[in-house]
Amino acid sequence: MKYLGTFLMVLYASFVGFAQTLIEVKSPDNRLKLNVSLSLKGEISYGIHLKNTTIIKPSSLGFKLNKPALTLNHFSLVSADTSTHFDTWQPVWGEVKSITNHYKEVKLNLKANPSNVLVQVVFRVFNDGIGFRYEFPEQANFKHFIVADELTQFNLAGNNKTFWIPGDYDTNEYLYNATKFSEIHALPASNKEKDIALKSVIGDNFVQTPLMMKTPEGIYVNIHEAALVNYPVMHLQADRQNFKLLSHLTPDAVGNKAYLQTPAKTPWRTIVISDKATDILASKTILNLNEPSKIENTSWIKPQKFIGMWWEMHVGKATWEKASGKHGANTENVKKYIDFAADNGFDGVLVEGWNEGWEDWFGNWKEDVFDFVTPYSDYNLDELLAYAKQRGVKIIMHHETSGSAINYERRIDKAYQFLNEKGINTVKTGYVGRIIPRGEHHDSQWMVNHYNRVADKAVEYKIMLEAHESSRPTGLHRTYPNWLANEAARGNEFNNAPTLGLVPEHETILPFTRLMGGPMDYTPGFFRMHLNQFIPERKTRVRTTIAKQLAMYVTMYSPLQMVGDLPENLKVHPDALQFIKDVPVDWDDTKILEAEPGDYITTARKQKGKDNWFVGAVTDENARKAKINFDFLDKGTKYQAIIYRDADNADWEKNPEVYTIEKVVVDSNSILKINLAKGGGCAVSIFKL
Ligand code: NOJ
Ligand code: CA
Repeated sequence: MKYLGTFLMVLYASFVGFAQTLIEVKSPDNRLKLNVSLSLKGEISYGIHLKNTTIIKPSSLGFKLNKPALTLNHFSLVSADTSTHFDTWQPVWGEVKSITNHYKEVKLNLKANPSNVLVQVVFRVFNDGIGFRYEFPEQANFKHFIVADELTQFNLAGNNKTFWIPGDYDTNEYLYNATKFSEIHALPASNKEKDIALKSVIGDNFVQTPLMMKTPEGIYVNIHEAALVNYPVMHLQADRQNFKLLSHLTPDAVGNKAYLQTPAKTPWRTIVISDKATDILASKTILNLNEPSKIENTSWIKPQKFIGMWWEMHVGKATWEKASGKHGANTENVKKYIDFAADNGFDGVLVEGWNEGWEDWFGNWKEDVFDFVTPYSDYNLDELLAYAKQRGVKIIMHHETSGSAINYERRIDKAYQFLNEKGINTVKTGYVGRIIPRGEHHDSQWMVNHYNRVADKAVEYKIMLEAHESSRPTGLHRTYPNWLANEAARGNEFNNAPTLGLVPEHETILPFTRLMGGPMDYTPGFFRMHLNQFIPERKTRVRTTIAKQLAMYVTMYSPLQMVGDLPENLKVHPDALQFIKDVPVDWDDTKILEAEPGDYITTARKQKGKDNWFVGAVTDENARKAKINFDFLDKGTKYQAIIYRDADNADWEKNPEVYTIEKVVVDSNSILKINLAKGGGCAVSIFKL
């Protein structure tokens, strides 16, 4: 619902610092304030304050175009429209069952000087953040245009603590760095990463979004984008002396950024802001800025828990390719996975290495690798489908494109028809390696359009989707509820990377960064921490305790959760496995109980349609006490809480596989303080009695 009004639109006659404040808009709760100014020369800028603290100083807006060759950064104001919006909507799946979308909007109708190109800037001011985007309305003398650069600034008020990864056009699989803004150095951070297959780092002062920061006053600020459609991924260039960020769009094969035709609009630039870290994790602003679901009948879309013919290959027990003689995805072996899934109530079995092509899939920039429909001769798909059906389990398809997106597009109809014929309705895609069309990047406009085209195809064929090595999500799962998850960050599998692996703080940062845009297929559930089971000389290891692996089913939100480890390792700890069996993948409610980026997160979630709650708490390399206040429970009701915590002598480094399980009765007055080991965690399932 939209109310038009003239609220809070202040047209100052006075000139302040050569800039005339055009408009001031406050958030519905009046805490956040947006100022938009126009200088005497016609430069437009915005600034943001939380109560009396400046978060974003005046920051300019604009564009540089290649064709027509124009710079759009001097404007006259034609008019301004303001409105208030309030509604609630129900996601098909999610962290909560109902989402409130409440903001004040101002739309500035601007005319660029001297070109007369019409540009609109739309700001939406929510209680926990601001989104803005550019729109280019249909107009007689300006139709097709090529973006050379977007000139959006984020001018920070101080030397914020910053959680960053190097700006890179092809990968987001870096470890996070936590430094002062002035100490961002992307080149050494990138150079030390030896296990990322393909890097295209931009420069020493470039970082990626979502970018998480904490101001010297203790205010949390997250910069990202929403609804990335027909546009390249935005990276950020840091002016480290002056604490400024400038948008940097990913170029295409010939160096252009975006090809647009009016009417056109950019993605939303988002700044989520709060003095509480827990509010950042609870924010729905990015989702609210995305368009509603494209899919009317969503009854075929189901959150899922699954295991995979997958880790076997990563830890060297088997291979994807058949020629090695150690082929993992053979009929007999996959049956064991189906049995394990059925015995434990998991919905699906992902099978990697099922199809011909793995002998020559990587590193040669080869265009035609897989056809996505031809199984290896030792993989009897029909027999397995029948077996899986009998056991009540679904097979999840794997489409590794090896970066040849063009090959995937060519074959996608046949591949998805094949899935429809076989009754398979979930697919994991992957984009390992250099992109074809050659010269394109994982983050360029062509590839962004590719990921979205694949999502559209998946809608057409009623297929649920998750993508690895795609660009990072921007809340499009509101529009495509069949797009359950992405990896698009350094996943749990990086524990097996020989050089750097993961660090215990990683999982305390990801929810504040990568997960701001959408669910992640992080693949938790490793029970065996030393990864030398099949290759004794292997030194790689998981850097968490078992209890922390359990906690991540709650702290790392996804409607598609893998159970990462091998069945034989999971079977060693049937009591811990019980938590993974119990924990759901869809929720009616979520409470972020405590959080600090880089240090800890404690989250409670209520199971969809049930009275059960589940809590997860994770810490970094420091031991701590998680505090769980159970006041979210129904008053006057008793619950059985099963606590899966680190054993007293647990430690991610020295003793990661020991845990203690305790049962206590709790109610809404209970408060528990639970010890988390170094690199540890705790998981609690709470059943109404
Ligand atoms: C990288 C993915 O992240 C991983 O999960 C997959 O097993 C390999 N690519 C092979 O496709
Ligand atoms: Ca820390």
